[in-house]
Amino acid sequence: MVSRVIPVEDFDLVIFGGTGDLARRKILPGLFRRYHSGQMPPGARIIGAARAAIDRKGYQKEVAAALEEFVPKGARSAETVKGFLESLDYVTIDATGDGGWKKLAGMLRANVVHAFYFSVAPSLFGALAERLHEHGCAGPSCRIVVEKPFGRDLESAQALNRTLRDHFDESQIYRIDHYLGKETVQNLMAVRFSNVLFEPLWNAQYIDHVQITVAETVGVDGRGAYYDKSGAMRDMVQNHLMQLLCLTAMEPPSRFDPDAVRDEKLKVIRALEPVDPEDIVRGQYTHPDKGMSYLEQVDDPDSITESYIAMKLAISNWRWAGVPFYLRTGKRLKARYSEIAIVFKDAPHSIFGQAQGRHRNVLTIRLQPNEGMDLFVTIKEPGPGGMRLVDVPLDMTFADALGPEVEDVPDAYERLIMDVIRGNQTLFMRGDEVEAAWTWTDPLIKGWTGRGDRPYLYESGSTGPEEAAMLLHSEGRRWREIRP
Ligand code: BG6
Repeated sequence: MVSRVIPVEDFDLVIFGGTGDLARRKILPGLFRRYHSGQMPPGARIIGAARAAIDRKGYQKEVAAALEEFVPKGARSAETVKGFLESLDYVTIDATGDGGWKKLAGMLRANVVHAFYFSVAPSLFGALAERLHEHGCAGPSCRIVVEKPFGRDLESAQALNRTLRDHFDESQIYRIDHYLGKETVQNLMAVRFSNVLFEPLWNAQYIDHVQITVAETVGVDGRGAYYDKSGAMRDMVQNHLMQLLCLTAMEPPSRFDPDAVRDEKLKVIRALEPVDPEDIVRGQYTHPDKGMSYLEQVDDPDSITESYIAMKLAISNWRWAGVPFYLRTGKRLKARYSEIAIVFKDAPHSIFGQAQGRHRNVLTIRLQPNEGMDLFVTIKEPGPGGMRLVDVPLDMTFADALGPEVEDVPDAYERLIMDVIRGNQTLFMRGDEVEAAWTWTDPLIKGWTGRGDRPYLYESGSTGPEEAAMLLHSEGRRWREIRP
């Protein structure tokens, strides 16, 4: 396959929190990969800004160590690592005081894209925005990138939005949800909106239900303090799963442009019905034999925060009336496995008789691992024995179908950071979208917190609490397997 790397414009990217965990694990390795592929223009510069009193050399050393740890050997060469380190600079900065700002302002070049990545606690967003303005760094064409968590409820999200909008226009604010940068998630839009095959069937007339699963094997390891204040609902559902739901359920936008896409996603969130507490199952992992239990890891024996959640949602519009969307996500599950499964209805009449059992078409979009799609179709089982039916997948594993280059699928961050430089907000959340998601989420969290509902326990390495199975069983459906 021919490489289709299109270089972006020249830029200065400042990473506030440039020595932090996210910068080391994701942002800098992502930028490096773009450099390695030839997409970063030769003059582009990345300026780490953090409290640490180190100089450029010290920063280059830290970044070199991060690349060694987080970029596989085959994806780097001594030459590209050297070139990338040359593009780095560093400034010691005091986010709430004056230290370092003059120096930073002096480092920025005229006539190139300026982007500021706020990879810091949200409590510092306001201070950073103010300082950037005071020091003349924030021109009308600069961009800021902010990470989740974007608030912890509607009120805090609105406050954050106000703070940012005091200093920047919405068109300058890039709220990252890294799920939108995943290759398969973008593919969901390509599949839906460029194939005539699916869209006519994409509605309540043909679809029985939808399942969205994001299963993880990791626990809250090392992040207990943050996670215990969030839980799976805030950490995963309000943002990542909500985005997957929106892309699955939205109407076709008129164009693939930022506001057309985000307008349609917003309509889906606003059409979500309140969820009956009976339709939510929350869980907490346990089992001391397989590592620490959730309660031990967060060091609070009374915590009622969930590390797993499953729920049944309804979207009240013509397209989805009566079609349940089942969502589930959890930590320390059997396998790292994420997919969206569209389960179609039974054929209206079976000419082969009841003895053949139930056969349904299912379209699955696999996010990870092994990115790709499957369309299960029913065929005759080959061989003698009469007309026996069997469901087989038409498997499209992207790496098999599109060649070896696809095995090196860009990480979500690579794609999204390059979109910031390109000035394309399509894959970023707009302020009203985030607020709408919290408007729907808040009453659910308040409900179980107010009632003091304790999550069900599930064993580490299992598929989650058994009670979650009942969400579907009681309706004659079942969860798809979480496969290793
Ligand atoms: C993050 C959550 O946003 O997404 C983590 O805070 C979670 O708890 C992670 O593990 C999952 O991302 P991915 O890309 O590994 O599926």
